[in-house]
Amino acid sequence: MSNKKLRVGIHGFGRIGRAVARINFERNAFELVAINDVNPDVDNLAYLLKYDSTYGRFKGEAKAEGNAIVINKDQRVHVFNADAPGSARWSDLGVDIVIDAAGRPVLPGELDRLKAQGVRHCIVTNETPLALPVKPVIVGVNHETVSVADFALSTVTCDANAFVPVMSLLQEKFGVDYGSLTTLHPWLGYQKLLDGRALPDSNPGHVPSTYVLGRSATQSLIPKTTSCIRASSLVLPWLEEAFVSVSYRVPTAIVSSADIVIKLSRPTDRATVIAAFEEAEKKQRYPVLCNSHEALVSVDFAGTECSAAVDHRWTSSRKAGQLKLILWYDNEWGYGSRVVDLVDHLAGLHG
Ligand SMILES: NC(=O)c1ccc[n+]([C@@H]2O[C@H](COP(=O)([O-])OP(=O)(O)OC[C@H]3O[C@@H](n4cnc5c(N)ncnc54)[C@H](O)[C@@H]3O)[C@@H](O)[C@H]2O)c1
Repeated sequence: MSNKKLRVGIHGFGRIGRAVARINFERNAFELVAINDVNPDVDNLAYLLKYDSTYGRFKGEAKAEGNAIVINKDQRVHVFNADAPGSARWSDLGVDIVIDAAGRPVLPGELDRLKAQGVRHCIVTNETPLALPVKPVIVGVNHETVSVADFALSTVTCDANAFVPVMSLLQEKFGVDYGSLTTLHPWLGYQKLLDGRALPDSNPGHVPSTYVLGRSATQSLIPKTTSCIRASSLVLPWLEEAFVSVSYRVPTAIVSSADIVIKLSRPTDRATVIAAFEEAEKKQRYPVLCNSHEALVSVDFAGTECSAAVDHRWTSSRKAGQLKLILWYDNEWGYGSRVVDLVDHLAGLHG
């Protein structure tokens, strides 16, 4: 952990923005000095920070005071109400890093407006198109390639944060020929309680290829395509051709799972695979991979900070090289923890 705290602003104070704020409240990795949201109701933003149906009550005090949320009486977090990241006046607060968690398409002009305000980095909490000058970062796999000169960074997706470290390790230890990935992802805020129009409110540019995401989120397992392989191949390009995939939106509020079947290049036994994951957990700088041997269900992983917990009750292998793995990951808290790790890593680089 670096000594010098960077000053951070969060653009988009939704599930991920608030998870990052709460995680930082516990870890104190940076100074949260501002947030920006299209929601103009500061009382409502403070209320949403304070009470959370998934993670419970905020562990400190949080109170709206004019155009700020005051945390524990002495930490004043200014609240902007702009609809684009570059329109909030981050420079008034000396913001070093803007975390873009609004879920809107990233526009190069907006990145320029942030730079012009003296912001040193923008971290986007989603996969971004290859055409943009945004570096994809999976903490635990390629974060050490980040330099102070990298202005725009993306922490890609929660699924990629779970999948890439696992695949990176397996490729290094045993080689991976090909595989199949099925992710199970909880509902997201833009889905519907009852059947309706399939348009994500937080991502108006994105039209689902089918109408299934407009179906009641509470009543069905909803099969859909996943961006996980494409997003993961931004960091490990060999994954693109090696994997087939599918995803299900499942009627739960939190914690994703990945069901992976792989053909290893160098077949090995179950115990050797488990030992490789146990060793990786011990050696890592940030808590990216963890191992589980208990009889747990998805909700038991809520609030878990690792990017992927490998549930070794289901780890199995065959002599021909087949390997099956089940991962669990808190799609908000685990992912948000990596965003905080990346800020911590940048703080170390800036000294
Ligand atoms: N929820 C997850 O599991 C998860 C995991 C990893 C990454 N992500 C990504 O993080 C991003 C945010 O997801 P989320 O689940 O937190 O969404 P959310 O809808 O809960 O939060 C988005 C927030 O941004 C605000 N907002 C929207 N447009 C804005 C604008 N133009 N200007 C200012 N504020 C704006 C909204 O009012 C809301 O508070 C998305 O890109 C999503 O794909 C989500």
